[in-house]
Amino acid sequence: MTRRTFYITTPIYYPNDRLHIGHSYTTVAADAIARFKTLTGYDVWFLTGTDEHGQKIQRQAEASGKEPQQYVDEIVAWIKDLWSQLDINYSDFIRTTEERHRKVVQKIFTRFYEQGDIYKSNYEGWYCTPCESFWLERQLQDGSCPDCGRSVEMVAEESYFFRMSKYADRLRKHIEEHPEFIQPASRKNEMINNFLDPGLEDLCVSRTTFDWGIQVPFDPDHVIYVWLDALSNYITALGYMTGDQEKFERYWPADVHLIGKEIVRFHTIYWPIFLMALDLPLPRKVFGHGWLMLNEGKMSKSRGNVIDPKVLASRYGSDAICYYLLREIPFGADGSFSIESLVKRINADLANDLGNLLSRTLTMVERYFNGVIPEPQGEETPGDKNLKQQALDTSSKMEKLMDQLLISDTLSELWKLIGACNKYIEDNAPWELARHEDRKDRLGEVLYNLFEGIRFVSILLQPFMVNTPPKIWRQIGISEHNRLQTWESLRHWGQMPYGISIKREEDLYPRLNLNTEIAWSTGDSPLRSGKEKVTGVITLDDFKKVQVKVGEVKEAEFVSGADKLIKLKINLGDGDDRQIVAGIALHYAPQDLKGRLVLVVSNLKSTKIKGERSEGMLLAASDHEGKTVLATVDDKISPGSELS
Ligand code: MSP
Repeated sequence: MTRRTFYITTPIYYPNDRLHIGHSYTTVAADAIARFKTLTGYDVWFLTGTDEHGQKIQRQAEASGKEPQQYVDEIVAWIKDLWSQLDINYSDFIRTTEERHRKVVQKIFTRFYEQGDIYKSNYEGWYCTPCESFWLERQLQDGSCPDCGRSVEMVAEESYFFRMSKYADRLRKHIEEHPEFIQPASRKNEMINNFLDPGLEDLCVSRTTFDWGIQVPFDPDHVIYVWLDALSNYITALGYMTGDQEKFERYWPADVHLIGKEIVRFHTIYWPIFLMALDLPLPRKVFGHGWLMLNEGKMSKSRGNVIDPKVLASRYGSDAICYYLLREIPFGADGSFSIESLVKRINADLANDLGNLLSRTLTMVERYFNGVIPEPQGEETPGDKNLKQQALDTSSKMEKLMDQLLISDTLSELWKLIGACNKYIEDNAPWELARHEDRKDRLGEVLYNLFEGIRFVSILLQPFMVNTPPKIWRQIGISEHNRLQTWESLRHWGQMPYGISIKREEDLYPRLNLNTEIAWSTGDSPLRSGKEKVTGVITLDDFKKVQVKVGEVKEAEFVSGADKLIKLKINLGDGDDRQIVAGIALHYAPQDLKGRLVLVVSNLKSTKIKGERSEGMLLAASDHEGKTVLATVDDKISPGSELS
């Protein structure tokens, strides 16, 4: 019999900056869903990756003095390391700069053009670079991007357009006939009211004013609009339109595209229409989850309120972080991150409920049975029956909740079983039974049932906390018994072997002190990304590694094809003029720079920016508004003078 398949995706992330815990939320949730499906016997494919093209990335690379490819390579390496720290078990990681993706996107674009879905015209309108989205005047809110609230730019350029309107009725029909397609349901109404009802505009699907993207194969001045490029990843990664379509045929259509709520429009309007134009079936479900907030605002780099997931995971462990994210925030709604709520969850749910259940049970078997799990010999009581029934019912209840992506409720269900085991200890008071030699059988029965309950819990924990179950198995002595760690083994109560020795290790989750954790998080900790850079202390020796010299600008000109760059020749007093490329073209005209004294980091490793050699860096100051001014010296001094 062929196994049922399950294909789940996350959005592919912009590698324009390090990711924060809000980004990690999507991937942690997708990973839990994928693992749950695998546990229940599905053949699962879990795709994630990075969305590497577009104006935003190009500008950010320029501003940091790097070639875009080098810039994204470094961040992608950081992202992959993050996923490994959070134990994310993806099946494939697609990068849109990969050849396997680029080639197929070009084929898709050509097909659209050849079948008349795409035509050439001129675009004049608003563009939000952070969201990479086009807006009509009437859609702006107070003149700003309605999605992110940031300022938009007017762009006027030759573009290819996709005839969205041609497919609008079919899409509306699909949405209405498939209530499960857009989830949660409120997001469906938003799409219909805000985008389909007013009439779909044709979408601009190419750009000409920058070049960091996939070229339109038959018109190389154009690069393909980054959202058309990015959305296609869900099928290019499966080998669509290549000689090897096996994965595509096996897994498409996707069962779930998991995304944040601000990109629902791209996934439920543009993406299905592109798929219709390709004659492909639509994904079964697009689920737009809520945002992780910090101090009332959406966590985002531009608001400066981000939490670094690597710092969190290394302090608390990835299991605790994943559990917290999945349990604390009802999936679909917005939720707040705070150290207080994290520490409370760790102490109450993990240290008390789960950790104590295990350690109390281990202690009792050590004390009363010399560390050997007893054979169950007593009579089954109504209390035993209840515990057993609850354990047997929990897996199917959890499965139903997970199918609706109610992840937090799924975990609550599991914690009910943990609670029932703890209550079973109180109800049976094993310490009382131990006082009577003639109750030894009953004591054995009670402890045996507790171990079996813990085994059930450990299996059901696996999709959410990957490192904790193996620790439990080691301690209760079933590490080697793979069969006892499976979903199938949850069908029958009483499979826990007796007569085996337990092996106590350190507590699963030691209790944390809330005040200590708050002090850590508000002090000098690098928890809020970027803070490390500002508040971290360096030694004088660190500082001395950086050589800053006064330079005199001899020549300056724009770098062709880069709207932010100026190429300068600078005299550093050593006879040879240095070439430096600086991202200051929006703030200075080349003719105003000639003759000025500037400050230059002179021992920086040389690099190439937009194909131009750059041997050093100009120092400049930028404020939050984006204003940039060059750093300079107070009085005339000869070029080459060193700062100390
Ligand atoms: N590159 C696009 C997606 C293309 S998919 C074909 C993109 N990238 S992103 O890096 O900006 O965002 C990736 C995901 O992170 C999105 O689903 C977004 O909603 C999510 N989040 C970003 N900030 C978040 C929070 N503060 N909270 C929860 N999710 C957040 O969009």
